[in-house]
Amino acid sequence: MPPLSEGEVGQLLTSALKEIEAASTPEGFNALKVKYLGRSGVLTLALRSLKEVAAEVRPKVGQALNAAKLKLEGELDSRLSALEAAERRSRRGFFDYTLPGTPMPLGHHHPLVKVSNEIVRIFNFMGFEVATGPEIESDYYNFEALNIPKDHPARDMQDTFYLKDSELLLRTHTSPVQIRIFESRKPPVRILAPGRVYRHEAINARSYSLFFQIEGFYVNTDVTFADLKGVLNAFVSAFYGNVQTRFRPSFFPFTEPSAEMDISCTLCGGKGCSVCKYEGWLEILGCGMIHPKVFRNVGYDPEVWNGYAFGLGVDRIAMQKYRIDDIRLFYENDLRFLEQF
Ligand code: DAH
Repeated sequence: MPPLSEGEVGQLLTSALKEIEAASTPEGFNALKVKYLGRSGVLTLALRSLKEVAAEVRPKVGQALNAAKLKLEGELDSRLSALEAAERRSRRGFFDYTLPGTPMPLGHHHPLVKVSNEIVRIFNFMGFEVATGPEIESDYYNFEALNIPKDHPARDMQDTFYLKDSELLLRTHTSPVQIRIFESRKPPVRILAPGRVYRHEAINARSYSLFFQIEGFYVNTDVTFADLKGVLNAFVSAFYGNVQTRFRPSFFPFTEPSAEMDISCTLCGGKGCSVCKYEGWLEILGCGMIHPKVFRNVGYDPEVWNGYAFGLGVDRIAMQKYRIDDIRLFYENDLRFLEQF
């Protein structure tokens, strides 16, 4: 092979790059590698005949040949590895962008929140607005203002969680929200106050150290016990459908008179079964006419204002509704339980 001039090296490089450009298979690239860079490749031979090049231009031609060799090697290598990468990708398979993604587990409301929301919704329709109060309360709001005397058993260390080195406690019921609302507003007030309450009780299937209550109360002039019965009966028929109700006389320090409300058993219809413990009735709430002492404590004149209050246990109602026989299930947060609601 006759020695190449610097210009010829340039032409050679240009046409080799064009050939590389046109190639598209590994075989094509390998053939070009052999043709230009192999043991008897064009560039290899040209380099070998460098000694025949005129001495004045030899360094220039030499440099051009080395540069061309590097350029071709680099070009061939990168095209080959790009081809291999594309092959690897296609071997992994065609990616179908229309396939649905991996589903994300979606949460939902806890059964107690569900039941509570349902109850709140029914009372909303009857004009009750929602209010809340703190779970950490003072003795005054939780007991004193509600006419619960110092020696009342509910104040016992057995029943109440007191906060260490303070006057505070975890509220044992939602009734203190009555006092907070009365202190901050003038009647008429019609409120529903859902929330958590705490009691220091032995934990078993029937009782837990925390549970949920909903307090309801209405204060205006001329509110009667008949109004209370009317609202509660309307609630029961909206929530349970066609069941019977009855009111039994009871006692609460903050209401006079006081009553407890029962519904006919939702399972047996009143005949008697294990859910109602063969009584035919299920207790759902306590209620009564707000005690004049409570009004005096908040500065409402009991000669002008009267009202009713009621408090229902969400856990018990949810247990009856879903036929759950152990309250602890609500607080263990076992997904196998929660996912059923
Ligand atoms: N606070 C009572 C309790 O926790 C429930 C209750 C009963 C609330 C009668 C009331 C009521 O508002 O009138 O046991």
